[in-house]
Amino acid sequence: MKVAVLKGGRSSEREVSLNSGAQVEAALRRRGHEVIAFDLDRETWNSLAAGGFDCAFIALHGPLGEDGTVQGLCELLQLPYTGCGVLSSALCIDKAMANRVLEQAGVDVPAHQEHDVREGIPGDLPGRLVAGLGLPLVVKPTRQGSTVGLTIARSEEEVADGLVLAGRYDYRVLAQRFVTGVEITIGILATPELQVLPTLEIVSENPVYDYDAKYTAGKSHHVIPARIPESARRAAAASAELSFRTLRCEGMARVDLIVDAQGTPWVLEVNTVPGLTELSLLPDAARAAGIDFDELCERLVRHARVRVMEGGGG
Ligand SMILES: Nc1ncnc2c1ncn2[C@@H]1O[C@H](COP(=O)(O)OP(=O)(O)O)[C@@H](O)[C@H]1O
Ligand SMILES: [Mg+2]
Repeated sequence: MKVAVLKGGRSSEREVSLNSGAQVEAALRRRGHEVIAFDLDRETWNSLAAGGFDCAFIALHGPLGEDGTVQGLCELLQLPYTGCGVLSSALCIDKAMANRVLEQAGVDVPAHQEHDVREGIPGDLPGRLVAGLGLPLVVKPTRQGSTVGLTIARSEEEVADGLVLAGRYDYRVLAQRFVTGVEITIGILATPELQVLPTLEIVSENPVYDYDAKYTAGKSHHVIPARIPESARRAAAASAELSFRTLRCEGMARVDLIVDAQGTPWVLEVNTVPGLTELSLLPDAARAAGIDFDELCERLVRHARVRVMEGGGG
C-alpha cells in the first residue's frame, strides 16, 4: 500500500508526534509498504490530493491533528485514515464534553466544572471552585495533552495560579476533583473486532505523571498487568470499553484512569491518537497481548481500508 504518515503539526505535542510518526514510518516500511511522511502544514492537503495514496496514518497528537480536523480533511479527500472518526476525535479532545457524555452513560468521572476564561478569570472563581470541588483539585486546559498546563492545586492561591497557567493553553479551563489511587491506562483496539488490552500501571518518578516523566527515559515505568485486585481490573476494563463505545471510537484509543482504594475506576480522558513509539503505553500493552509494534501499525492501516467513512454511507 502507499501510505501517507501525517506527523508533527502545530500542537504543543509536536515533538512527541514527530517521534510517533518516525517509528510508525519505520514499522510500515518493514511491512513492505511504500511510505511518505508529511510534517503537516498548509501544503499537505495538495500533496494528499495529488499523491494517489491508499491510506493516511494519522500520527498527530493534540489540537489540529487528533481532534477531528485532519480526519475531516481525509473525509473530504475520500482518503481512508487510521483510528477514530471526526465526531469521536472532536469529542475526545474536549475533556469537558467527553466527561459529560461519559457521565450520561454511567461512567465514573471525577466531579468537574468548566469555565470560559476568554474574558478573564473572575476574582471569585478560585473560591467557588474550592467550595464546589474541595482541595486538592486539578486544573487543566480543556483541550490539551501530555500534562501541558496542568496544576494540582492545594490551596485557593494555587487554584488561581493554575487557572492562569491553563488559560495560556486554552480559553476553556477544566477543574476536577483530585482522585487518589493507582494510575492506570487501558488501550483498546477495534480493527474492527474490539480488544481490550491488558491494564497498564504507570509508576512515575515525579509526583505527577507530567511531560518530563512521560518522555524522559527512566522517569516512569510500566507494570502489566496493573497491581490492583482482579475485581478492580475487571471493573476498569469494563469502564474503558464503555468509554470507548460511548464516545464512538474506532481503530484504537487509550483510556486513562485512576483506581481508588475502593476499586472504583475514575476515567480521566480518552486519547484517540495515543503515543505511538515502540516504548509508548498502548504499544507496550499491545506487545503484552502478543501484538508487536509492526503488527499494530499494520492492523490500523488495514482497518483504515475497510472502515466506513462518514460520508461513505452505511
Ligand atoms: N482528577 C485527577 N486526579 C488525580 N490526578 C489527575 C487528575 N487529572 C489529571 N491527573 C494527573 O495528570 C495527568 C494528566 O492528566 P490527563 O487528564 O490524563 O490529561 P493529559 O494526559 O491529556 O495531559 C494524569 O496522568 C494524572 O497523573
Ligand atoms: Mg492523559
